[in-house]
Amino acid sequence: MKTKIFITGSSGFIGFHVAKKFLEKGFKVCGFDSMNNYYDVNLKKSRLKILRKYKDFLFIKGNIENEKSLYYSVNKFKPSFIIHLAAQAGVRYSIKNPKIYLNSNINGTFHVIEAARKFKIKHLIIGSSSSVYGANKKFPFQEIDKADNQLSFYAATKKSSEILAHSYSSLWNLPITMLRFFTVYGPWGRPDMAYFKFTMKILKGKKIDIYNRGKMYRDYTYIDDIVDGIYKLLKKIPSTYSKKKFKNDSLSSVAPFRILNIGNTKKIHLLDFINGLEKELNKKVKRNYMPMQKGDVHSTLSDTNLLRKITGYNPKTKYKEGIKKFLSWYKNYY
Ligand SMILES: NC(=O)c1ccc[n+]([C@@H]2O[C@H](COP(=O)([O-])OP(=O)(O)OC[C@H]3O[C@@H](n4cnc5c(N)ncnc54)[C@H](O)[C@@H]3O)[C@@H](O)[C@H]2O)c1
Repeated sequence: MKTKIFITGSSGFIGFHVAKKFLEKGFKVCGFDSMNNYYDVNLKKSRLKILRKYKDFLFIKGNIENEKSLYYSVNKFKPSFIIHLAAQAGVRYSIKNPKIYLNSNINGTFHVIEAARKFKIKHLIIGSSSSVYGANKKFPFQEIDKADNQLSFYAATKKSSEILAHSYSSLWNLPITMLRFFTVYGPWGRPDMAYFKFTMKILKGKKIDIYNRGKMYRDYTYIDDIVDGIYKLLKKIPSTYSKKKFKNDSLSSVAPFRILNIGNTKKIHLLDFINGLEKELNKKVKRNYMPMQKGDVHSTLSDTNLLRKITGYNPKTKYKEGIKKFLSWYKNYY
């Protein structure tokens, strides 16, 4: 019998790629997504259209904030695993719309965790974010670092979901892995993210806004590496230990709960990334240097040794190569 996975946010950037990978590998996938209009719905529809070509894919349009619809769907599909990637993403939008984040990322995530408990899910993987490291100054970021200084409301909701998940894991012996993603980019990406906006503007000959005058670093992670990490992680189910096997492991004797970074482990200067786009597009970029934006962090850099030890994760895509692949998709799609 084929293994069944329930994936929330399956029409989103990461959820789409993850669903596609598991379908290609012979799993049965039920995708659950509200298809909200935070960004271009047609892009979500196009991703969904690709997934619908697989005979083992089932789609349910629904909102994780609506617990009845979520529980009904999970109960009907009877998955062994849940990968929770539905969320209100984006740091900047959270400044003016905090309530949406509260509802989706905290209430909605609570319903997903509760569904995993009710229906005895073997392993619940939840998308978290490098933004939970907030104002931390110690690089690279490690999972055991204190992460209590979130700078955006988005990051605060992500950190909150980690705490909620830990309590449930401990109370109900529910295996949960929280994956902290570091700036994911690539084909079928998110139009609200900087690299995507830059591309749109550069091609139209418009000026691009560069915050903190470009003095920022990001650990850009190519989507295929993320998908590969999640694929390898599915059956690495955390269990409680009396003694930890790995350094930096958040796994404890009380909960089958683990936090893992998933990044590329290189910090790239924002201007180098923009220069990469400029070179590949063969267009001079008109730059508008701006001050630092509220809620933003200066730098991110992942330590992914723990994920590597557990799964053999080894990110392969260098940012210059990733940019090429993204642009090739972009030109073809638009
Ligand atoms: N892309 C990144 O760089 C990045 C970085 C850090 C963390 N993350 C996290 O990874 C996860 C996936 O992000 P993404 O980049 O694919 O974002 P995305 O916005 O492309 O995908 C999220 C999907 O969830 C759906 N959704 C949103 N709210 C919902 C709700 N209440 N009920 C049902 N569906 C809902 C949306 O319609 C969308 O299709 C999110 O948890 C996000 O916070 C992403």
